Amino acid sequence: MFKRYRSTETALAPRPQQQQPAISTPPPSATPRRAPQQPPEDTADTRRRRRLLDLRVTIHQRLLESLNLAAIEDAPESELRQEIAAISRETLADLGVVVNAQEFEALVNALIDEVTGLGPLEPLLKDPSVTDILVNTHTQCFVERFGKLELTEVQFKDERHLMRVIDKIVSAVGRRVDESQPWVDARLKDGSRVNALVPPCAVDGPLLSIRKFSKTPYTVDRLIENAAFSEDMALFLQAAVSTRLNILVSGGTGSGKTTTLNAMSSFISNAERIVTIEDTAELQLQQSHVGRMESRPPNIEGKGEITQRDLLRNALRMRPDRIIVGEVRGGEVLDMLQAMNTGHEGSMTTIHANSPRDAVARIENMVTMAGVEMPMKAVRAQIATAINIIGQVSRLADGMRRMTSIQEIVGMEGDVVAMQEIFRFDRRTVADDGRVVGDYVSTGIRSHFAERFVQWGVQLPHDLFAPGRRG
Ligand SMILES: Nc1ncnc2c1ncn2[C@@H]1O[C@H](COP(=O)(O)OP(=O)(O)OP(=O)(O)O)[C@@H](O)[C@H]1O
Ligand SMILES: [Mg+2]
Repeated sequence: MFKRYRSTETALAPRPQQQQPAISTPPPSATPRRAPQQPPEDTADTRRRRRLLDLRVTIHQRLLESLNLAAIEDAPESELRQEIAAISRETLADLGVVVNAQEFEALVNALIDEVTGLGPLEPLLKDPSVTDILVNTHTQCFVERFGKLELTEVQFKDERHLMRVIDKIVSAVGRRVDESQPWVDARLKDGSRVNALVPPCAVDGPLLSIRKFSKTPYTVDRLIENAAFSEDMALFLQAAVSTRLNILVSGGTGSGKTTTLNAMSSFISNAERIVTIEDTAELQLQQSHVGRMESRPPNIEGKGEITQRDLLRNALRMRPDRIIVGEVRGGEVLDMLQAMNTGHEGSMTTIHANSPRDAVARIENMVTMAGVEMPMKAVRAQIATAINIIGQVSRLADGMRRMTSIQEIVGMEGDVVAMQEIFRFDRRTVADDGRVVGDYVSTGIRSHFAERFVQWGVQLPHDLFAPGRRG
């Protein structure tokens, strides 16, 4: 029997949100460097913070000299705390600096973070409400909470301090970043995804972006609760996954593509063998039979690269029932289309695009760039037979991530890939608090796959596709 999801009376209720407007930070573009940004006001509070930061760095230097760093990893935290407190007291006395008990406590905590973790970033990494950490040079750090960007007070002492933290991250995964290789993708121990870019490519100073790994991945139920899509849409997606339609999730940067893909994968039966292919392994599939693969960048000599395309070709020899590619970005898309057309139905992937139509155009581009001579009409025909459903996700102005459209590819009309929209998010208005208000509705177009659903024994509400039906 088809499972009905929990009622969604609360589906469109607002999630807790911060009131600040979404802030976009333009990438640094032009040399020369911008002057490092200092805190706007020279208040007693900012002076105190700066003084503590200076002290932290000085004491940290002493700690590095006097602590046996190799032993630290195994030392119990209480012992480490005692040791750090003792060295801090000594250093403060040497420097003739007096701090109050609260400041001393904060200093010791920061030093523990500095020695055992990622320094000033540790409190942000530990804060479960933070989903992204974006460091723009040592002077500025933004975080994303509840879909909104906020500037934090976190600062690094100087560029070297930030570089040391970046080095710590990348060396832990056996990579390096410097002038000759100024960017790197890495992962933290907890699975968080990291990208670092350093000068000369980072014009004003190192840039570090961390997408935190969600310890409790979003389930379909939780996404319905968060109003990411409606219960009707979930039913439809479940029908599509269980009847092995090929699905593409399309969306902009950070719009929730991977989250949606991961949640949708829960509709796959536990009896199937799934192979996942990603550039940075992020998917957290719940099934028992999953083979996970991750591509590998070239090494320092520029050798040893293993692309998603290589892995996809290998995957075809692994007898998968379903192939899930985290995000298609290049030539692998051609192999993916071929796999979808030749016995690996029910495959899924995501793509960076602003609309389902744009997603199709991007795939055409990627196929062209894959170096295969094929007339455009043939490329489109491949796409039209391979991909069945496109779910468009967007991060709206209020910070909420929503599936704004579900469309089906129904074949070719002349030279054009024909598509039809089954569900969409209808925006009604923007509330005083900036919230985008609207409903998820059925467009009134009956799914092209309705018969297939029936044949596969999937029962959907009889009026699921009725015009204007609210999910
Ligand atoms: N519906 C949602 N409600 C709340 N948070 C969400 C929702 N969907 C995604 N997020 C959060 O938004 C962030 C970005 O999500 P995700 O990684 O899925 O986006 P993406 O489109 O795959 O990003 P990228 O373009 O970087 O690959 C994550 O921290 C995720 O936990
Ligand atoms: Mg993603």
